[in-house]
Amino acid sequence: MIVRKTAAELEKMRRSGLLVWQILQKLREIAVEGASTMDLEVAAVKMIEDAGAKPAFKGYYVPAAGEQYRFVLCTSVNDEIVHGMPNPKRVLKKGDIVSIDTGVKLDGYYGDSAITVPVGEVSEDTKRLLEVTREALEKAIDRVRAGNRLFDVCSTVEQHVKANGFSVVREYVGHGIGTQLHEEPQVPNYVDRKNENPRLKPGMVLAVEPMVNAGRPEAVVLKDHWTAVTKDGSYSAHFEHCIAVTENGPWVLTRP
Ligand code: MF3
Ligand code: CO
Repeated sequence: MIVRKTAAELEKMRRSGLLVWQILQKLREIAVEGASTMDLEVAAVKMIEDAGAKPAFKGYYVPAAGEQYRFVLCTSVNDEIVHGMPNPKRVLKKGDIVSIDTGVKLDGYYGDSAITVPVGEVSEDTKRLLEVTREALEKAIDRVRAGNRLFDVCSTVEQHVKANGFSVVREYVGHGIGTQLHEEPQVPNYVDRKNENPRLKPGMVLAVEPMVNAGRPEAVVLKDHWTAVTKDGSYSAHFEHCIAVTENGPWVLTRP
């Protein structure tokens, strides 16, 4: 069942969304050469606490990992796709890219967003990977409209990525969001004909999160049970926003 939110509920999700946005803006500034991914975590923990919010990821049980996640951020560097864990030994260097993904719960409602940040000057190919992934998300956002169907959103990401010679990850997907971090429907970055293709209706909220590999699409999980990396070692980018379906079109809750 896809839960539809009332206007009052969407206002609450807006507050979580804006907090996540603020956190990511601050972390973007901290993510420079010489900073560790644990520096990002420490800053995020403080911002979430100061806002009187709860982290969405810390303590979240993921069956595939067989345990609860231990951090408020996922920090995924270079060939890491998602679920990279903050680590004081993982020091960012010029040419790296780092996906910073975080979620919070405020007043019972979740917000969830991710950006991928270049560290110093990155290669032209890497710039294009970030640009195409960001564009895929923007194009998908524009499809989050009442009357459209879920597959319109999924296929928009897939087509933009493939048209630019990159590949979409299939093992991880976006999701509905509300009083739970992960609600129905699943939002793959490709058309999955095995899934249902519901019509989008006002009050639905989708977390759309393209994960795009420069090379082959396959992902493998490291021995730490969490970190998903590209099988071929190519770089991977990730951007995410929460978008509400409204009578007036898409409302991106996770940015001003
Ligand atoms: N943005 C990711 C998601 O929505 C991050 C989840 S990390 C986890 O699935 F630890 F909470 F699972
Ligand atoms: Co998400």
